[in-house]
Order: sequence, then C-alpha cells, then structure tokens
Amino acid sequence: MSSIVSEIETQLHTGEFAEAVLAGLAQSRKSIPCRFLYDARGSELFEEITRLEEYYPTRTEIGLLKDHGAEIAERAGAGCAVVEFGSGSSRKTHILLEALTQASAYVPIDIDDAVLKEATSRLGADFPHLALYPVHADFSQDIRLPEEIEDTPKLGFFPGSTIGNFDLDSAVDFLADAGDLLGPKSDLLIGADLQKDTDILIPAYDDASGVTAEFTLNLLRRINRELDANFDVPRFAHRAVYNDDVGRIEIYIESLADQKVSVLGRPFTFKNGEDIHVENSHKFTVPQFKALAQDAGWETEQVWVDENDLFSMHYLTRP
Ligand code: SAH
Ligand code: AVI
Repeated sequence: MSSIVSEIETQLHTGEFAEAVLAGLAQSRKSIPCRFLYDARGSELFEEITRLEEYYPTRTEIGLLKDHGAEIAERAGAGCAVVEFGSGSSRKTHILLEALTQASAYVPIDIDDAVLKEATSRLGADFPHLALYPVHADFSQDIRLPEEIEDTPKLGFFPGSTIGNFDLDSAVDFLADAGDLLGPKSDLLIGADLQKDTDILIPAYDDASGVTAEFTLNLLRRINRELDANFDVPRFAHRAVYNDDVGRIEIYIESLADQKVSVLGRPFTFKNGEDIHVENSHKFTVPQFKALAQDAGWETEQVWVDENDLFSMHYLTRP
C-alpha cells in the first residue's frame, strides 16, 4: 500500500528574514530571532549537535519515548493524527509512530523546507499506512492544519524542549494557541529540559568539537548568502552563558574586533566585544513546567523523567 504524501504546503511570508535581520541589527542591543538559525545548513548542523556526546537532550528524550511508548499509545488512542511543531529530521517521531501503531496521519510543521522534504520522504517509505501532510510554516504565526484531518482527534508532539527557545510569556501564548489549533479533543506530548548543573549545561551548548559554534555562526553565513552581506565570520565567536536569574542558556555571537558590516546595502557597526543575542534555551523544574502548561489551559496527565533527572516528557490534555 503506498502512502498519501501531500506536497509541502508553504505558509511562510517571504521577506521576513530580511526584515528581522535589518531590524534586529539596528537595535542598541542587537538580536535576531532563533528561528532563523534553521536554513538547510542549520538543520544539518543541528542534527550533528543531537549526536554529540555533550548534548544529552536528544538521547535522553529518545530513551523516554522508547520506555513509555506503550503508555503514550494507550493515552492517545487509535486513529489520531500526530501534529509535530518543529519536526526537523522527525527521528523521534519515527519512534513515536512505531508505538502509535494506529495513528492515521502525520503533520510535520517546520520552518526549513529542506529538512521537511527529506523527513517526509523517509517517513513515507517507513510508514506506508500513514497520510502525510507536511507544512512549511513558522509555528509562532497563525497556521492552518490540512482540512483532511479536521475531524480527526489530534496528538500534538513538541519534543526537544524547543518550547524552551521561547521567552516564558511567549511559551504560554504558544501553548494556548497550539490548543486552539489542535482543537478540543486534542492531547499534547511535549519535552521540557530540566534545570541542572552548569558543568553539564555549558558543554551541551559549547561542545569541544565546535559543532554548536558552527551552528550559531551559520546564521552570519546565511545572512551573507541570502542578504548580500559581508560578515567576516572568523572575526565573530559563539558564546554560551547560563543566566541563573532566568534559568536559561543564552547564546550570543560576539564581535572580536571593532568592525563594519553591510547587509542589503545598510551599514552596521560592531564594537570589539559587542554581541548579537541569537537564542535562549530555558531549563525548567517539573512543577514550573506544569504551572506553565496550566497557564496555557492544559492539564498535566503524566510526566516522565529519566533516571538522571536530565529531561522531562509531559502528556497534556484539555480539561
Ligand atoms: N523535533 C526535533 C527537532 C528540534 S530542533 C527534535 O526534537 O530533535 C527545532 C526544529 O524546529 C528545527 O527543525 C527548526 O527548523 C524548527 N523550528 C524552529 N523555529 C521554528 C518556527 N518558528 N516555526 C517552525 N519551525 C521552527
Ligand atoms: C531546538 N532547541 C531545543 C535546541 C536547544 O537545546 O535549545 C537548539 C540548540 N541550540 C544550540 N544547541 C541546541
């Protein structure tokens, strides 16, 4: 039986990258939203990060999915459509779908169409019974789900602790909007990275082989490629710091000299040591994440945590 694989539906606005970069670099404290880290090269580098010894979240969450797949399947019930926010390579989805033997459809949503295309074709080959509806979109904007699954109960899937890349207020707004998008009969399986010692956290975001640095600096290379810019990338550096007050890793690109850069014909100056804030990665406690989910209108049915207290996976329902 061959699978139903829809064409990728694009719901992205063109010109958004240029607008965000020009506005972000014009601020007195420069910043660029983290979603722009993911072009085709960014997705490749992120996939490399997930296989690093220092980057514990991916293997830990995969362990939780493998250990608790049967319980998840029991809760999700038969025939549900899985809707994944920020699906990337869909490696974890593969494991989830093996447990959810009766899922009827899968809707991967990602901002990078290259990773979406590749993941969809791999899943289509491995799960021929499944209808696949890839959506190329920014999940923080208004998005539409395919009308074919309008009446199907949904299981939202948001692994990786990508929720931690939002500011806390935006995380609540996102989860509330996700509830509206998925509908009243939906559940949400979501990964949340846990607070821990900086001896573990800092190497996870500043690995010895420099893959994370390359992932961060690819943003400058992407600006050079797509926005006619001239960043001299070796004169910038990746910095990962832990902000104890907020409980999050913050990623910066630091200028290593006084320098000038042009983007789409606009000049920008950098002082030696000045940085561009490009990412936050919040770390939670289980009670804190439960409260956040509750603020967004979700009820926590079950939480699974690995034996080393590194990572948590939450099964949320609509009250
Ligand atoms: N779910 C995978 C990948 C996580 S990496 C895992 O758990 O390993 C984050 C993914 O979200 C990337 O594939 C990236 O392209 C995507 N992403 C980041 N911001 C996004 C946004 N605003 N809208 C849609 N996708 C986004
Ligand atoms: C996608 N997201 C959850 C990753 C994280 O851990 O915050 C992104 C990342 N950035 C650097 N390393 C990983």
